[in-house]
Amino acid sequence: MSNLFVSEKLVLPNGKIIKNRFFKSAMSETMAKRDNSPNIMHVNLYSQWAKGGAGIVLTGNVMVDRTALGEPGNVVVEDERDMDMLKQWAKAGTANNTHLWMQINHPGKQSPKSISKHPVAPSAIPVGGSYGSAFYPPRTLTTEEVKGLIQRFVNTARIAKKAGFTGVQIHGAHGYLVNQFLSPAENHRTDQYGGTLENRMRFLVDIYQGMRKALSNNFPIGLKLNSSDFKEGGFSEEDSIEVVKKMAEIGIDLIEISGGSYENPKMSSGTGKGSDDVFFLEYAQKLKSLVDVPIVVTGGFRSLEIMEEALKNERTSMIGIARPLAMVPDIPNRIFQGRYETVKTQRLTTGFKTLDKKFGTAIGNSYYEQQMKRLAKGKQSKRTTNAWSPLLHTVMLHGPHVFMPRRSK
Ligand SMILES: Cc1cc2nc3c(=O)[nH]c(=O)nc-3n(C[C@H](O)[C@H](O)[C@H](O)COP(=O)(O)O)c2cc1C
Repeated sequence: MSNLFVSEKLVLPNGKIIKNRFFKSAMSETMAKRDNSPNIMHVNLYSQWAKGGAGIVLTGNVMVDRTALGEPGNVVVEDERDMDMLKQWAKAGTANNTHLWMQINHPGKQSPKSISKHPVAPSAIPVGGSYGSAFYPPRTLTTEEVKGLIQRFVNTARIAKKAGFTGVQIHGAHGYLVNQFLSPAENHRTDQYGGTLENRMRFLVDIYQGMRKALSNNFPIGLKLNSSDFKEGGFSEEDSIEVVKKMAEIGIDLIEISGGSYENPKMSSGTGKGSDDVFFLEYAQKLKSLVDVPIVVTGGFRSLEIMEEALKNERTSMIGIARPLAMVPDIPNRIFQGRYETVKTQRLTTGFKTLDKKFGTAIGNSYYEQQMKRLAKGKQSKRTTNAWSPLLHTVMLHGPHVFMPRRSK
């Protein structure tokens, strides 16, 4: 094993040992069929990531309610009907001493028209921005429903543990439901789940406390959190710091930092050309001086030099990577073996500026989804900058609602 910073072990506060500093971030695989069950494609894909050498591998977001999806093809875990396949998935993804954590999510109002006619949210505030027309306006959740959703998150986590996943991550970023509760712009509730920051945090804190009770003290529970929503009057960096401090105090095991939402997709802007271009590094460094919990930055890590610099300067505890690992699933091993060539994420184009501008997000996501499907079928990823194949691929697979905006990476 090399003497690189990326190859060092990480000990979580609960004593669990992570074999190295590579953290494969969540990428929604969109591989489930109509019944939203995991299948052999998930098993094959995660087997490759486990063999590829990362210390922690996150699943794509798994939904807690089949009536509320973020996109077609999401896996839903709301009961034990898929236990056999979940066990196979967990077994494949934990091979090679890999930690496999299930990311658990509810989209709230970010569930597109093609999927949800009646989305729910902390308050009945429609999604804004240029993508707003893709979503029906949400209705306000009752307090009883909020409590029911908390139980759903806890139940999904319980099933994940039972199936053999070695950790879970609460998706509190990118404008989804937990993030909606945290944001003063999205949450105008007057019950115990709205108003002060303490109240806006309650949904997240109750989910975490419920999971902790159900999963025991030494089962890793992580959180993906926005550094900010980058929206006037939204979840700010000051709010984010308070949430991090609270979650650290009550025992969260790891916090991954990202940012943005459908309205302002900051999470995928980093190109990795320099450390200034790896998003959220500065913010993460600030957090690291405030709390002892491992902080993981995701977004833009590409070159080994920048990864090493970030770890050496203690700006992040692990290196969060998503898109490059859909192209080359064994980046960690290649780095340890000294045969890594920087994997760049290129911009795809249809050749028409207006089309690129309008469908850029759908094209980008579809491209990486295609790559994950290739890997799941035992093929190699296929590099191209031609956007037509990913565009057609999604239309064929999911129908014309591909032209609805999707998550912003
Ligand atoms: C196809 C695709 C699906 C994604 N799905 C998720 C997801 O389910 N949950 C999540 O938190 N982030 C998701 N992301 C965002 C990534 O985890 C990551 O934050 C982002 O791609 C930036 O990291 P990168 O520059 O290393 O790709 C997704 C990104 C892509 C490209």
